[in-house]
Parts: sequence; C-alpha cells; structure tokens
Amino acid sequence: MKKILMANFKSNKSVEESNQWLDEFVKQVSWNNVGNFIVGVAPAFPSVEEFSHKITEARVPLKLATQDISAYPAGSYTGAVSVRNVADLGISYAIIGHSERRRYFEETSELVAKKVTQSVDNNIIPLVCIDEPYLEEQINLIDTNMYNKCVFVYEPLSAIGTGDNVSVGLVKEVFAKIRALCGDVQCMYGGSVTDQNVSEYLLVADGVLVGSFSLKATDFAKLVATATAV
Ligand code: PGA
Repeated sequence: MKKILMANFKSNKSVEESNQWLDEFVKQVSWNNVGNFIVGVAPAFPSVEEFSHKITEARVPLKLATQDISAYPAGSYTGAVSVRNVADLGISYAIIGHSERRRYFEETSELVAKKVTQSVDNNIIPLVCIDEPYLEEQINLIDTNMYNKCVFVYEPLSAIGTGDNVSVGLVKEVFAKIRALCGDVQCMYGGSVTDQNVSEYLLVADGVLVGSFSLKATDFAKLVATATAV
C-alpha cells in the first residue's frame, strides 16, 4: 500500500489563491520521485472542479479530495454536496468526520457513519478522522464490511493546529486500538505535521493529513520531498 500525504486547506484561500497554490506546487514537486507515495490535496469545495481540470492538464499524479461529503444521496438536501455532485470530478478521497466538523457543525458519529457509507458506495475512499474519546463509538457505527475500504486518521484534538504534535509512541498505541477493532486497516496521523516530523510519523503511519503546513505550496512541496526521500 502506498503511503498518503494529504493537504487539507480547510476554509482557507479564495479560488484564485488556491489556483496559485496548485500552479506552484505542481512545479515544485519532483513527480518522478513520489512513486511510492500518494500525494493529495483537499481544497475547499469551490475549487474542486477547477483543481480537477488543472490536475488533468498538468498530467501529474496528484489526487483530489473533498473535505466533507453529504450523508445523503442526490436529492432535496439544500446546501449539501452529494457524491453525485462531484461524480465527474475525479475525486479519490473524502475527509470525513474531521473534529472541526464535529465541533463547529455538530456532526455526530452516526452522521459520520452515513457519510462513510455514501463515500464507500460511490468509490470515494473515506479518510475517517477519529480521536480517542469517540474512537470505539465511531468504529462500531460503521458497517463492518466497509472497514477495509476506509482509511482511519488519528487526529488528536490537542495536536490540531497547535504545533503540539503527539509522540509517535502514542500514535502507534492508537493505531493498535483501531486495528484491534477493525482488522488490518490503513491508519494515518494528522496534527501539526511538518517537514521536520513527517519522517518520524511515516515510520508507523500509512500517511499524514497536513493542515497548517500545507497552506504554502513551498512548505508542502518540502514535506513531500522530505517524506519521499526516505
Ligand atoms: P494541522 O491540521 O496540520 O494544522 O494541525 C491537521 C488537520 O486538522 O487535519
């Protein structure tokens, strides 16, 4: 399995700023060296379509992700972005159940489980974000047949956007808990990952989700260079 290096812009950047990022990033990465890794980006929804076209034009193996997906299929769900809405945009991954969605948008583990179903049923790999307080609850709510179609991302709240990344030892322990519940699944880490600590995490993790340190194209390109040099 290739390890995943995923950028998450969150609600940052205008469409133009996002496009500038993409143009710079595509130029700065040595794409021939990323063979054993999957490099991806999750811009805000208004940029997803243009990113899809630009990535195709650039002919680089950059994967596109959404930061969320509706818990419901196409239909009368005003304001939601369904799997159908992005069906022709070449989406590979969807970040689902990020702690910011749980905290600011009151997403429950039940809702997150529905989003996982939508995603898996439509061949989008869900990056299911979990933290210890609701790890077991969340996993128990996901259809057991879907476990091996998910990538679980351990995102400790204390480490998100704080610079206070957790120890690799703790990450390993939490991955063991996840795997005890759902078998040999892919597990990523997210929380203050930079070019300085990415290699350490990749010793135990199947990938990293990068927020703050992905916002400058040069930084994320540096992180990709560091990770893929190992
Ligand atoms: P951070 O965010 O890299 O800024 O800590 C990670 C995340 O929330 O996915």
